[in-house]
Amino acid sequence: MPHIVFNKFNKQLVTPLKKEEVSFDFIAKSYNFTEKIRKTEYKICVEKENKKFLLTLKDKEGEHLLKADKVTRVTPVQLVKDALNDYANEVEANIVFSNTQNINQKIKPTQEYLKGIDYFINDFKTDKEIQIEVGFGSGRHLIHQAKQNPEVQFIGLEIHTPSIEQVLKQVQIQELDNILVVNYDARLFMEFIGSNKVGKIFVHFPVPWDKKPHRRVYSNAFINEALRVLKLEGTLELRTDSRKYFDYCTELLTNLNTGRITIDINKDLPVSSKYEDRWKKQGKNIYDVTLICNQEDDDINLNFDFSFPEDIEYDEIIKTLSTKAVVKDDYFIHIEDLFIIEEKSNSGLIQITFGSFDRPLSKYILIEDKQAKYFQDLPLPTSANVKAHNELIEMLK
Ligand SMILES: C[S@@+](CC[C@H](N)C(=O)[O-])C[C@H]1O[C@@H](n2cnc3c(N)ncnc32)[C@H](O)[C@@H]1O
Repeated sequence: MPHIVFNKFNKQLVTPLKKEEVSFDFIAKSYNFTEKIRKTEYKICVEKENKKFLLTLKDKEGEHLLKADKVTRVTPVQLVKDALNDYANEVEANIVFSNTQNINQKIKPTQEYLKGIDYFINDFKTDKEIQIEVGFGSGRHLIHQAKQNPEVQFIGLEIHTPSIEQVLKQVQIQELDNILVVNYDARLFMEFIGSNKVGKIFVHFPVPWDKKPHRRVYSNAFINEALRVLKLEGTLELRTDSRKYFDYCTELLTNLNTGRITIDINKDLPVSSKYEDRWKKQGKNIYDVTLICNQEDDDINLNFDFSFPEDIEYDEIIKTLSTKAVVKDDYFIHIEDLFIIEEKSNSGLIQITFGSFDRPLSKYILIEDKQAKYFQDLPLPTSANVKAHNELIEMLK
């Protein structure tokens, strides 16, 4: 991680400071909130190349350590290095260590078909039918489907980076333009897809997680979200060699109030994955369980309003907030830390972790001029984040 250590600074930085290449908006100082004895820490708000982020300044054995803030990540890393150098120059720091110089950066090839979750919230539009593959692994099935069905828009979900890179390479080599790849947990991804838009969802050879069933892709929540995004007659297709996983899924599916399922044993598909080849060689049975969607659903709101009410008195609030986590059935909120902007009355940062237990989100809330807002960007509108936000509004009253 890029950082600079210095033993002295010769000039005080007074915010706000606007320069041609960089602005320093505010400096927030740690508030003694956790009641533990701790060192003073500062969060420095920088704006550079139209991106706002924080730097952390800490005392370390009589020296000062300046580094990027972990919550407000920003790319490319060179931007952070430049901001660290800008601050050190501004305060005329006596530098004793730095790893912020630019050493021939490797340029990554553009990853046109690799999309972040924000893309699905803000920009994703298609008139094509969508089909989704969960945990595509080597990608054999995904690539085969995309080649056979050029009129379909495929979305491949994976959490294993080498598999993602391998498939992106194949997409490039085979000049496919109908696959989008997302590095995201399939259990949460569906929330960002409109209702009744998807023709098929493939879940082939998911990890059975016999000892940690809560990590399985299939759950009541996953099946319900799948049914919401599937169009009428759309299918959720499980293929597995695991008898336990098969039994678990058929139990979940047969507990639905309505629906149709089909079961096949050792059905041949035109393409066989690495896992499938291995299981077939071992003479294991392969089970296909397909759920056919028989309902249409209401659309969802991806434009949830993450604003806070006005008239927030930061000086009052910090006296009442607690570090004790608020834990509910499907979400939580944990206030991690508080920072005060000394140059501006009634202002500061609240550092929080919140949302779902599977994918907690770390964020700052900036309070200035009696107005609170999420620093940098808004949370993703997942149901857990929406519930946590509503609870936060109550906590800040
Ligand atoms: C056993 S492999 C099967 C890969 C491929 N479908 C096949 O048939 O060869 C399971 C894959 O699912 C991915 N995976 C596991 N949990 C996931 C999740 N929650 N979201 C997306 N992918 C997941 C894993 O990284 C792994 O690549």
